[in-house]
This record gives sequence, structure tokens and C-alpha cells, in this order.
Amino acid sequence: MNSLKISEIKKETKDSCVLRFEIPQNLKSEFTYLPGQFLTLSFDIDGKKVNRCYSLSSSPYENVLEVGVKRVEGGLVSNYINDTLKVGDYVNVLKPAGDFCIQIEEKSNVNYYLFAAGSGITPMLSILKSILEKEKGNVYLLYGNSTHDSIMFFDEIEYYQNKFKERLHVVHTLSQESRDSFWSGRIEPKSIKNFLNEKELANSKFFICGPGKMIENTNKALLDLGVVNDSIFFESFGSTISSEKYLNLDKATVDFSIDGACDSVTLNSNQTLLRAIMDKGYNPKFSCEAGVCKVCICTLEEGEVEMLNNGCLSDEEVKARKILSCQSVAKTPILKVTF
Ligand SMILES: Cc1cc2nc3c(=O)[nH]c(=O)nc-3n(C[C@H](O)[C@H](O)[C@H](O)COP(=O)(O)OP(=O)(O)OC[C@H]3O[C@@H](n4cnc5c(N)ncnc54)[C@H](O)[C@@H]3O)c2cc1C
Ligand code: FES
Repeated sequence: MNSLKISEIKKETKDSCVLRFEIPQNLKSEFTYLPGQFLTLSFDIDGKKVNRCYSLSSSPYENVLEVGVKRVEGGLVSNYINDTLKVGDYVNVLKPAGDFCIQIEEKSNVNYYLFAAGSGITPMLSILKSILEKEKGNVYLLYGNSTHDSIMFFDEIEYYQNKFKERLHVVHTLSQESRDSFWSGRIEPKSIKNFLNEKELANSKFFICGPGKMIENTNKALLDLGVVNDSIFFESFGSTISSEKYLNLDKATVDFSIDGACDSVTLNSNQTLLRAIMDKGYNPKFSCEAGVCKVCICTLEEGEVEMLNNGCLSDEEVKARKILSCQSVAKTPILKVTF
């Protein structure tokens, strides 16, 4: 973990901001990244250590480290960042990570279809800029927002549209406002079908980013339209669904062993395993707290859990009863886990 100084903050929309970090010379190699990767920012808020992932909206070719953060209603960190941080502040940042990214191949003419909703534009912007600047294929962006004012990076996208008129095709779709030259509604099967150029599907890759439900629907729509599974990539930014939806229990008892110690804790309906064990005073390893890094992995010896997001465990690991403690809520009243 490194402490990086904020060199610039820009208000992007009413509900979002863009942060740029200064990268000291000695950390340059540590902070190289691939288009689509994210940073994990770590804060101490009201005595609680919290980590959150934010995708890099900059392209590695710009020599900049930039993230865009949109407020989530009631959200701890996104509001803290938008309300509190200022230029000159230092933030603890983990080096770039994540598999939702591309390797640039300068001779490639593969086309990219990008589907983004809300703040899901951040990794897409990095991918879009990198492909346009370094590869030869076309880029198609279908970007969904509620209103025109809530569109992040609108001007920057326009800049690239003007610069790469022949290769970048952007459609904005608005769910709560109608405007000339914008589509209406959310990203859904009908708009996806209208958006795709059937002649190009075989030579294309498809990237989806946004809330869980949007990803599920877009993925399904693409498969229904004949897109091959292996060419679809997605990243979930988290879910509005509260864990309570999965849990019919008020409480569960968890026996756990960690670093040679054995103990037990009561898990409330809105708590993840990781947070319950931390609240008991233990320090289980964790990083993203979003189901994408695997650092919080443990083995479920007894009982059943629901993982709110599993963006990194393989099928084999799930079969072997490995779970992500940061995403696990109880489905049975008794659980036993080993770290
Ligand atoms: C790999 C990755 C990359 C990400 N990149 C970005 C990015 O570039 N820009 C960005 O703004 N965010 C990004 N996020 C989301 C970000 O990490 C946080 O989850 C988000 O800022 C909310 O954190 P919070 O502390 O404000 O909310 P919390 O206090 O954690 O949550 C408050 C409530 O909001 C719900 N919630 C949590 N996350 C979301 C969400 N994303 N959308 C809707 N509801 C949510 C929770 O279920 C809870 O009910 C990314 C997430 C991941 C996993
Ligand atoms: S802390 Fe990253 S997956 Fe749990």
C-alpha cells in the first residue's frame, strides 16, 4: 500500500468527481496498469478501515493515474470522496489490479463493443482511448444514464468522437429524459440488438460494466443474439440489492479459526462474514471488499452462504467450498469457516 498525493480534483457531474494522483518517480513501475484495471483506495472513516475499488478512467498511454467516483446513495466511501477529499491530500492506494482489462496489440483490427451504465464508464473510457490510440479496430459504445446531466466524461467522449470520426461510434441512452439524438430507456435487449452491427460480430469483443442486473441482462441479450460466450467480458461494480434479501434468518452463529485462534461470532442479517469477524477484533486479510481480488478467501467447513458477488473464484474453488468472506452472508443458522 502506498500513500499517493491527490494532484487534481474535478467535479465531473453533480454526483461525481474525478481524482488524479501524483506518482513519484520511484513508484512509476508499481503503478503501471492495463486499460480496464482498477485501484483500491483505503480510508479510515470513523475509526473503521474501509477499502473500495475504483477503475482507472485514464489510459496508460496518457501517463496519468485517474479515477472517477460517483456517489452511491447512503454510500460511505463514495460520498466521503466527493465531499471531503481535496488537492494535496494523501490517500492509501494499492497498486492497479483486475482481470477486466485488455492487452494492446498494435496490429490488431478487432472491434470492441462497450456497454456501460453510470459509473461503469470508467474502465470503458480507458479501454476506448487505448484501442483508438493504439489499435486499428472500431469501438462501439452504448452508454446508459438516467439524465443528460448525469453522464460522466461526456466532453471527453465527444473529444474522441471528433478525433476518431470513422472508428468511434457512441450512442447515449437516457432512462429518465428524452432528448434529440439520444436513445430513450435503459440498455436492454431491444437497444442492444439495434446497436450491434451483425457483420462485425465475429471479429469483436464485448465488454460490459455497471450494476449486477444490467450485466446479467446485457450478457443474456448478447448470447441470445448469437455472440460467443468467450468473447464477452464483464465487471460488476456492486449491487443495490441488500444482503437481507438473501437471508431469511435474523442471525447466524459462525465458528471460525484464524491465525491459529478459534472463536465464534454472531452474524447479523445485513453483515458479511468478513465484517462480523473484524468487528470481533480480528484482522482477516482483505483488499477490495468487492469480490474481485480473492484476498479474503476462506473455506466453508459447515453450513451454507450466499456470495453477493463472486468475480474471482473458479468453479473448482467453489466446488472445494472456498468462499469470499467479504461477500458471504449466511443462508443457514450455523456456519463454520477456516481462514
Ligand atoms: C472492480 C470495481 C471497480 C469499481 N470502479 C468504480 C468506479 O470507477 N467508479 C465508481 O464510482 N465506483 C466504482 N466501483 C464501486 C465502488 O467500489 C463502491 O462500491 C461504490 O463507490 C460504493 O461504495 P460506498 O462505500 O459509497 O457504498 P457502501 O457504503 O459500500 O454501500 C451503500 C449501499 O449501496 C449499495 N451499493 C454499493 N455499491 C454500489 C454500486 N456500485 N452501485 C449501486 N449501489 C451500490 C450497497 O449494497 C449498500 O446498500 C467499483 C467497484 C468494483 C468492484
Ligand atoms: S477482499 Fe477482495 S474478494 Fe474479498
